Amino acid sequence: MKANNFILRLRSAAFCCALLLLVFVAKDARAETGAEAWLRYAPLEKLAAQMYSDLPATVVVLGDSPVLNSARGELLRGVSGMLGRSLREVKGLPQERAIVFGTLSALRAASPNFLENAELREDGFTLATGKFNGFECVIVTASTERGVLYGVFALLSKIAREESLSTLHETQQPSAPIRWVDQWDNLDGRIERGYAGPSIFFENGNVRADLTRAGEYARLLASIGINGCAINNVNANPRVLEDDFLPQLARVADVFRPWGVRLSISADLSSPKVIGGLDTFDPADPRVAEWWKKKFDALYALIPDFAGVVVKADSEGRLGPATYNRTPADAANVIARALAPHHGIVFYRAFVYNHHLDWTNLKNDRARAAYDTFHPLDGKFDDNVIIQIKHGPIDFQVREPVSPLFSGLEKTNEAIELQVTQEYTGQQRHLCFLPTMWKQVLDFDMHAGEGPTPVKDIVSGKTFHRPLGGYVGVVNVGMDENWLGHPLAMANLYGYGRLAWNPNLTASAIADEWTRMNFGDEPTVVYSVRFMLLFSWTVYESYTGPLGAGTLTDILGSHYGPGVESSERNGWGQWHRADHDGIGMDRTVATGTGYAEQYRPPVAKMYESLKTTPSTLLLFFHHVPYTYVLPSRKTVIQEIYDSHYEGAELAASFVRRWKSLKGRVDDERYAEVLKRLEYQAGHAIVWRDAVCNWFFQTSGIPDKQGRVGHYPGRVEAEVMKLEGYVPFEVVPRETASGGKAVECAPPAQKCTASFPFKGAAGQYELDIEYFDQNNGKSKFRVLVGDKVVDEWVADDHLPATKPNGDSSTRRRIAGLALSPGDIIHIEGVPDGEEHAALDYIEIH
Ligand code: GCU
Repeated sequence: MKANNFILRLRSAAFCCALLLLVFVAKDARAETGAEAWLRYAPLEKLAAQMYSDLPATVVVLGDSPVLNSARGELLRGVSGMLGRSLREVKGLPQERAIVFGTLSALRAASPNFLENAELREDGFTLATGKFNGFECVIVTASTERGVLYGVFALLSKIAREESLSTLHETQQPSAPIRWVDQWDNLDGRIERGYAGPSIFFENGNVRADLTRAGEYARLLASIGINGCAINNVNANPRVLEDDFLPQLARVADVFRPWGVRLSISADLSSPKVIGGLDTFDPADPRVAEWWKKKFDALYALIPDFAGVVVKADSEGRLGPATYNRTPADAANVIARALAPHHGIVFYRAFVYNHHLDWTNLKNDRARAAYDTFHPLDGKFDDNVIIQIKHGPIDFQVREPVSPLFSGLEKTNEAIELQVTQEYTGQQRHLCFLPTMWKQVLDFDMHAGEGPTPVKDIVSGKTFHRPLGGYVGVVNVGMDENWLGHPLAMANLYGYGRLAWNPNLTASAIADEWTRMNFGDEPTVVYSVRFMLLFSWTVYESYTGPLGAGTLTDILGSHYGPGVESSERNGWGQWHRADHDGIGMDRTVATGTGYAEQYRPPVAKMYESLKTTPSTLLLFFHHVPYTYVLPSRKTVIQEIYDSHYEGAELAASFVRRWKSLKGRVDDERYAEVLKRLEYQAGHAIVWRDAVCNWFFQTSGIPDKQGRVGHYPGRVEAEVMKLEGYVPFEVVPRETASGGKAVECAPPAQKCTASFPFKGAAGQYELDIEYFDQNNGKSKFRVLVGDKVVDEWVADDHLPATKPNGDSSTRRRIAGLALSPGDIIHIEGVPDGEEHAALDYIEIH
């Protein structure tokens, strides 16, 4: 072989390799940012794709509208992404096999008796294979265009999950007409209880110039059957209703419309006075009624499909009808009457309570408030009013009983409010799959009629034959690329939509669907992700809130880390009544607040008795001594200790399980999820220790297993040799080990804490517990002798400006070789208000 020939061949081989590599990299280079959520339309494996080889090559759309255009675009996009095929669009009736879609009336115009017996409710759809215009077709049809869009999404979801389409005949109907989401976005761009960046709707007091993300959000919502969205905080800024703001709202409605999502806003009841120039907002004043009427006439002139308003009044400092001695019915109806000519709806929130309750009065009970306020008004609300009821009587705690108000309104429309944003359940830093919890709520039988009357049947309007009703999810997506922060948190939005559509789905089926659409079909991945999702809620509960006492978090501030005492001795009423002898709110009729009686008799009876109250809600209904023995034969105090230790262990097991998926999921999401799970495992220990220590100190009863207060391998920072670092007391004390930590306060610029290693020579794991506040970026270095073994910057954005249970964070150094006598140094360089505070080191 001549040399230059050889070189040529080599070159062409190299070229081929490069090409192959390019193809390979191109396939793999699909950046999994999470922006696409469950609509990734990732290419199917060759074998799976073959299942769809006989999918028609053409698409026929009967009709022309923005919603049908979205459906067409989505079909082309999905099929091209997953199957690598470009569908051809054909006008008119199909002249060959085709995917045909349009409303039932459009299909019947072409083929008069088509699907003669179909009874499709609004938004319901049928997927079918059959003859149309003489050709075998795949058909997607519905009574509304929105339903057609939902049908197309359902078809694509089947392909994504590799379901066969060969004999398609399926009708899906939504469980309820109302399937909405609320966003708690402020006009300045911040989001109340939002954990994934600023608002996708607002910035600097106005609607964003670029609403691309809002449109993408509407697409995601449509894909799970959501048909309405209130875009601003329930603590509403009256400005949204100012005349010059209305055209801005119309711009949001414009980007929602092609996806069948109707715009709604939260309205402040005092608007007629605050922005309307009246001297009152009394709902009984005719001038006020006139103001609302004119306002909505103007709004509908700009947004003809405006859906309605959400009202939070007489709650947490918001003004309401109580100002004028009027009732919520007076307030809701005055707005409802202004909306009625335009077919708009009022969602009046049942979250009405006094947050200045006298905590010394053991008969006071915030849980009673919604029922006490709204039950007497049953039947007094207009037909276009819906009472929006949080799923439990308090406030989205990790465990609550179902709100008794669901069975307390028979002549009034109801919607259940569920919280997708994880305000009290780990704020998207902890994994907590909420459909598991929501299913328990929705399936709970309220015993409000002859047969079973689960919450899902009441809110859908079925039980009491109400014309309206359904679901509202508080979501709070933000500008973060993956919408909710934690890559696995979007399973909650997906699950919310799926349950609003069909509350009979199981949590496991939802987890399975979501996992396949997000991570593909690999059995190990599907099994592990589904497993983690399904257990995550009870795991979170077990290290944060025992036996129905509520999330033992800082209720006065962040709602995030541990803060056991923050619930007590204030008027907010999230009391658990833990003292030296016992814990729990006595809500019985016999000796307590009487709350139990708000349920229908069979349910009331169950909760009235300590014996029949499920352990998971024991402390919600009863005050018991720490030595009370549970059906599990454990005492309450031992259960508190055990569940917190088990919970922290299980959180650590999620890290191991996720690590077993390395290489089986894309690197981006692998790394991002791992980071969060590792953080969670560390923070679960902060929770465990804070709660266990608080109860140990308060009850004086030791842990039978000897764990609480004893931490093998732990060296407190305050007993180390300190240079510059100074010990201080952490508040609340249980959120730091031993109640103390050390800080490097100015004028010090660099501090060191050192101690000698006293164990045997070997490989160790070193955990450094430090405080990462959001008002500084301290630097840390760890040295063994004079060798640097790790360094990092404390630059996380935790909800904390002080060293406490919100900021306490763990850094793990794995596989560290140590010998007896080695000196371990931790160096801290403070920054801003953050003083490189250090709690302890633990060596395993
Ligand atoms: C919770 C939450 C508030 C919110 C309120 C509501 O209390 O912490 O931020 O405004 O619920 O639902 O109205």
